[in-house]
Amino acid sequence: MRLQNKIAIITGAGSGIGRAIALIFAQEGAKVVVADWTEKGGQETVETVKQASGQAVFIKTDVSQASDIEKMVRVCLENFGRVDILVNNAGILKMGLLHQTSEEDWDAVLSVNLKGVFLASKKVIPEMLKQGQGKIVNVASVAGLVGFEGIGPYCASKGGIIALTREMALEYAKNKINVNCIAPGIIKTAMTKGMLDDSTTRQGLEAQTPYPRLGEPEDIALAALYLASDESDFVTGEILVVDGGFLAK
Ligand SMILES: NC(=O)c1ccc[n+]([C@@H]2O[C@H](COP(=O)([O-])OP(=O)(O)OC[C@H]3O[C@@H](n4cnc5c(N)ncnc54)[C@H](O)[C@@H]3O)[C@@H](O)[C@H]2O)c1
Repeated sequence: MRLQNKIAIITGAGSGIGRAIALIFAQEGAKVVVADWTEKGGQETVETVKQASGQAVFIKTDVSQASDIEKMVRVCLENFGRVDILVNNAGILKMGLLHQTSEEDWDAVLSVNLKGVFLASKKVIPEMLKQGQGKIVNVASVAGLVGFEGIGPYCASKGGIIALTREMALEYAKNKINVNCIAPGIIKTAMTKGMLDDSTTRQGLEAQTPYPRLGEPEDIALAALYLASDESDFVTGEILVVDGGFLAK
């Protein structure tokens, strides 16, 4: 098993990519903290992990709130005694042209997608420093590397995650804390359902993806597994694009 006895916190694990990461980590021997702001989704993930004979606990967490993050790490330590892996995956998307974007929507997206990464890393890193090692995997997006129309705050937040990943990697490499980032392409989850239910939009996205299918949450979970495992010990500050060739053109 590639994560035998590791303790992993996964934010946004109540759905989509985060749920797939929780399941594959548990199947590879990790004990998983499912952190999500939705109780229903979080509990469903815990049930799915348990049905696969894995171990998981749900902690209701809004990653944009420092007090929730503090509780998330405290409860993880109370349950499992340490934190080996943090996956900063929680994210939201708001659509609209930039000049029509409200300040509230801008703040909401930046608070969850980018500030959430800062808050969770800030609380987990001291534990990893004490332990002498750790793995942090941030989930960004291809929208942090190239422009996408109509999702300005999202692009800004994901570009920020990529920059922060490199900064954190430099800061903590000497402490054997690896910080890497995954940039998914178009993945079939609740976040993209609206787009993909529209056949014209879906066909357009499929046409832009060289590989002959769109992404599944498991495609990202397998990349996260590599970056969370010992196999990637010499990999840090990396932006791993998982997009079926979307950006290769
Ligand atoms: N689906 C895609 O095509 C795609 C592409 C690139 C990047 N991503 C990124 O992948 C990550 C996961 O997205 P997904 O596609 O699985 O979407 P999703 O909507 O299925 O899952 C997002 C999860 O994050 C949770 N969440 C949202 N705000 C939160 C908060 N403040 N605190 C705690 N939990 C919160 C939601 O409840 C949900 O369970 C996101 O960061 C997203 O930006 C997705």
